[in-house]
Amino acid sequence: MSTIIVVGSQWGDEGKGKVVDVLTPYVDVVVRYQGGNNAGHTVVVGREKFVLQSIPSGILHPGRRCIIGCGVVVDPASLIDEMESLVQRGVVLDGNLFISKNAHLIMPYHPALDRASEAKLGKRRIGTTGKGVGPAYVDKAARVGIRMADLLDERLFREKLEANIAEKNRLLREIYDAPTFAVEEILGPYLRYAGWLAPYITDTALLLSRWVAAGYSVLFEGAQGTMLDIDHGTYPYITSSSTTAGGAATGTGVPPTRIHGVLGVSKAYATRVGGGPFPTELQGEAAELIRARGNEYGAVTGRPRRCGWFDAVVGRYAVRINGFDTIALTKLDVLDDCDVILVCTAYRYRGDLLTEFPDEERIWNEAQPVYEEMSGWETSTAGVRTLSDLPAKARQYLDRLSELVGVPFSLISTGAVRDDTILCEDSPLTRWFPALRSALL
Ligand code: IMP
Repeated sequence: MSTIIVVGSQWGDEGKGKVVDVLTPYVDVVVRYQGGNNAGHTVVVGREKFVLQSIPSGILHPGRRCIIGCGVVVDPASLIDEMESLVQRGVVLDGNLFISKNAHLIMPYHPALDRASEAKLGKRRIGTTGKGVGPAYVDKAARVGIRMADLLDERLFREKLEANIAEKNRLLREIYDAPTFAVEEILGPYLRYAGWLAPYITDTALLLSRWVAAGYSVLFEGAQGTMLDIDHGTYPYITSSSTTAGGAATGTGVPPTRIHGVLGVSKAYATRVGGGPFPTELQGEAAELIRARGNEYGAVTGRPRRCGWFDAVVGRYAVRINGFDTIALTKLDVLDDCDVILVCTAYRYRGDLLTEFPDEERIWNEAQPVYEEMSGWETSTAGVRTLSDLPAKARQYLDRLSELVGVPFSLISTGAVRDDTILCEDSPLTRWFPALRSALL
């Protein structure tokens, strides 16, 4: 049995949903540990496309237990929509979905505060998804948040809601000049949500500890990516949770000593949504080419993603912060048409060569990428399923990236569907999930 964390190594949208989907047949439990419905994990099953926001993508495999951990912030209306749409498409939730009683709620005033604060920030705005995720984590840290368990106790819920509304309305009215909320307009719908969600709300940390002790295999499904982490990302242009591997322990209650490994997920190039530094960003036609081929538009907001070359400085940083044992590299086929591919190996800053990610705003604003040029393979890799079927130049590209970041690749994705996947032999993945070997044959 293995307990493995899956973490994005860039700015999110690395294709973690597909990687988790490929690995789910080999595990018993999939758990989300942070973030909220700002995430959009796209999974293609046959001809059907699913975008999961709060529910772990493992839910698409019958019988897998899926947990929304205590580190997640949950918008109940959005979660119920997601649940209903899955049920309509034949997915069984009862007995498979468990929601932590300690997960914090996104309340209607959180998206309102999110949008109002973004508008006030002007050119320093973060470019949030507007889902209220940041303000919900603010309340959690300020110890005024409302948790799933509170939703099940009408008196307590009303008491906490009244206290919050009084404060939030002042903020909305006096600081942001924005519309306010009435207790009753929130209470009614939230009590209805409580009725809906009650059967799923439980002590998921206790469940997980029992399942881990019983030898169940667990995937911890990270949302967003390393560079959006609240401590280790490009602060303040980040999301408000611990997206990195450390968050898996605090966001679920599984101790670090019970977690066996970390799988990083990286795209063969880089993207970012929202504001903030992106040293290898491309402009104009070059960016448009990658955006169009990679369908680089936000799964949740539809925003066009900023696109750029693979940044090995970011890659090495992600390896260091998360302790990746191995990496799954996605969307290799998006680069099929490029005659030349650039890889950033370092940054130049005021005459210095930086090989480590400069964790400071004043530096990254000025740092210029230093590129190594590789020749493209200019032939289709879409749907290729074995390493030996890849063009030699594509293999050279993979070898060079792996060398630059310092860990082996164990899975290469060459298309959106499950089977468009290359599994590398004798990798950490096959050690963690020995049954994967049969998929290689
Ligand atoms: P928030 O998480 O909505 O507060 O947004 C903060 C930053 O994280 C913004 O730059 C968002 O674009 C980015 N972000 C949040 N969720 C995702 C995601 O799932 N993929 C990529 N970027 C995200």
